[in-house]
Amino acid sequence: MTRPTVIQEKSMTDHTSRLSGFATATRAERLGVLAERLGGDAEAVSLLERLGPVDGELVDRMIENAIGVMPVPLGLATNMIVDGREMLVPMATEESSVIAAVCNSAKRCRATGGFQTSYAGSLTIAQVQLCGLSDPHRARLEILGREDEIRVICDEVDPQLTSLGGGLRGLEVRILPTRAGIMVVVHLIVDTRDAMGANAVNTMAETVAPTLASWTGARPLLRILSNLADRRLTRARAVWPAAEIGGPEVVEAMLLGAEFAEADPYRAATHNKGIMNGISAVVLATGNDTRAIEAGAHAFAAQNGCYGPLTHWECTEEGSLAGTIEVPLSLGIVGGATRIHPVAQLCLKILGTDSAEALSRITAAVGLAQNFGALRALATDGIQKGHMALHAQNVAIVAGATGDEIEFVAAKLRQGGRVTEAKARKILDFLRA
Ligand code: MEV
Repeated sequence: MTRPTVIQEKSMTDHTSRLSGFATATRAERLGVLAERLGGDAEAVSLLERLGPVDGELVDRMIENAIGVMPVPLGLATNMIVDGREMLVPMATEESSVIAAVCNSAKRCRATGGFQTSYAGSLTIAQVQLCGLSDPHRARLEILGREDEIRVICDEVDPQLTSLGGGLRGLEVRILPTRAGIMVVVHLIVDTRDAMGANAVNTMAETVAPTLASWTGARPLLRILSNLADRRLTRARAVWPAAEIGGPEVVEAMLLGAEFAEADPYRAATHNKGIMNGISAVVLATGNDTRAIEAGAHAFAAQNGCYGPLTHWECTEEGSLAGTIEVPLSLGIVGGATRIHPVAQLCLKILGTDSAEALSRITAAVGLAQNFGALRALATDGIQKGHMALHAQNVAIVAGATGDEIEFVAAKLRQGGRVTEAKARKILDFLRA
């Protein structure tokens, strides 16, 4: 660790957050500052020196003010069949039981062929906000009438995208009443192919905005993609025979659990959180933008004016349980972290996906599997039983257990009622006495 060259400005307290030069300092220098902050605890900070499979240059290229990496466990979901293809799905998550639930759910629908999916396409929406118009309807028609000119401007922005079959595919012009008056909102509908597409469409929106303003006399303001990616919907369906999930009573209980989410936004939020446990884990493993996917999913879940579930459940004529999911997924396999992060690259290789479409289909299937697992657990034993296995180990570690002690303490914790740190400490004291 090198001596800090970052200047910590004088302040009323010892700990000013004004660190000039921090952004341009080397990572080693930043760690030096941090160690000083932590009372000279270079050992604690040395945790951040080890970067694992990424190198310092990459970390510095990905974010600003980098000090290290925050490793999240990466696991493989087994048993998945998606559109007839057997696959192993990498999932990055800090939460126990998430991957186990997918493996278990996927196993129980293998006999019926696993997950069948469909994909609406890779159309991404960029919005251009036009303000200050007294004649918004005239402006709307003016813009709609010049779609060909707009296409030329947009497509010139990213010739590589157009060479791959992407580019501007459509135009919408909305008249939006707001508290600050009428605004005109232009939607550039762009096929971003195998890219998530944020950079491409944001540049298109910024490039075309002055022209839209010159045609209409409007004041162009925000120019940015919409994360409500409702042109990038991905759907999946699977059928679980009653015998695979505990009989008709369990089917009925799961359907009642699903109805709860249909009727109540409080429950729907948790129901969807469970779905996103699976989806976000695949998104993170493949270096995609978890926040974009989360924002899109929740906005879509509220699109009918009332927040609802992303999955729907029904009983087939044979008495099996059938689930469907429909979710917007702006995923990419080129560009951003997907391209430069070695672990993301490896995850894509494990998946054997060669397109954003294939990745989206798998991700939607994982979301459905996750929801099945949560619903089944909730409608039968409750969620805690499954959670406790790894949770007890975590509590044992927090209480100070190491090596073989961890499983010993965890097993004792699981045997007797509540799993608490105090109890784990007592077991550990007993073991070490
Ligand atoms: C926990 O991370 C996810 C669940 O709460 C999902 C659900 O309730 O459906 C178990």
